[in-house]
Amino acid sequence: MGVVISLDDGKHRDASVKPLVENTRADMERVNQLILSKAGSDVAMIPEVANHLISSGGKRLRPMLTLASATMFGYSGEFHVKLATAVEFMHTATLLHDDVVDESDLRRGRSTARMIWGNQASVLVGDFLLGQAFKMMVEVGSLEALDVLSTAASVIAEGEVLQLSVAKNMETTEDDYLAVIRSKTAALFSAACEVGPIVAGASKAERNALRSYGMNLGLAFQLIDDVLDYGGSARDLGKNVGDDFREGKITLPVVLAYRRGSESERAFWREAIEGGKSDDQALEKAMGLITKYGSLKDTTARAEHYASIARDALAPLPDSAEKSALLEVIAFCVNRAS
Ligand code: IPE
Ligand code: IPE
Ligand code: MG
Ligand code: MG
Repeated sequence: MGVVISLDDGKHRDASVKPLVENTRADMERVNQLILSKAGSDVAMIPEVANHLISSGGKRLRPMLTLASATMFGYSGEFHVKLATAVEFMHTATLLHDDVVDESDLRRGRSTARMIWGNQASVLVGDFLLGQAFKMMVEVGSLEALDVLSTAASVIAEGEVLQLSVAKNMETTEDDYLAVIRSKTAALFSAACEVGPIVAGASKAERNALRSYGMNLGLAFQLIDDVLDYGGSARDLGKNVGDDFREGKITLPVVLAYRRGSESERAFWREAIEGGKSDDQALEKAMGLITKYGSLKDTTARAEHYASIARDALAPLPDSAEKSALLEVIAFCVNRAS
């Protein structure tokens, strides 16, 4: 495609996930151990499928958020490690299911589990991981944490189903789109951050601050994910680009280009997204329209807006290494290429 679109104004170009990684290093080792042990089963196919995805890495952003959200309030027990592992298992389960729903071939730079073991194994192993996640939450014994995470589990499913019901419909509005990403992605970021202060026994105001931070970070994260599906590289992402277009998924870059287009350009979008004429030539044309109407730049600007809300949510909290790390992650999520 050769279309290069600048994703930021340079303000936060050096932003990195490194401070969060450093801050959570010791606890993340415990999380990684627990991930491996809880993915085990006498049914050999379960660890085989789970470890294929788990061992290919991933950013592990959500469990790090849980850990930092607990230790920033002085927590030093082991429950945050269990909750962080549960959060990553919920994420892993949704990825296994999502790749079936989206018919995706590539994840974390590898063939998706469904390409190797099929849809049935992917769905069932996802269910196993979800079950394991809930067992760990029960071990923690906090009904509040269980409430937050179980609510997130059903909201994520609602988001994925809502997305399915607006797929291939060009009349989808920006508000519809926001409702989808709030549920399918931001809800887990929000829950991951809220269970930290819960397990640490922090105040209601502190809990609300972390929930709002996570929700708005998650919105920014998914907005950028949808930019990268058109403006990123498969090598960096470990996922194929152009998949959203090919599957007729309505993301904000498309909503904006469609709404801003001429009558004939809108007819093109309907034919491509609703009519399924989404071959490489159509993708090339779609990219041209997306560039013409500044859709990626403006989607990134929307992400910046939610990033600012996330920043302001943390503002009242006292300074700490965790707070600095969480603030830097906001800019990282907006500027990320992978
Ligand atoms: C992928 O999330 C799913 C989305 C919400 C876009 P991540 O980009 O955090 O996936 P990994 O865990 O790093 O692979
Ligand atoms: C991300 O879905 C949210 C969930 C996995 C629930 P997407 O379908 O947009 O994300 P990718 O591009 O497959 O990672
Ligand atoms: Mg997907
Ligand atoms: Mg999806």
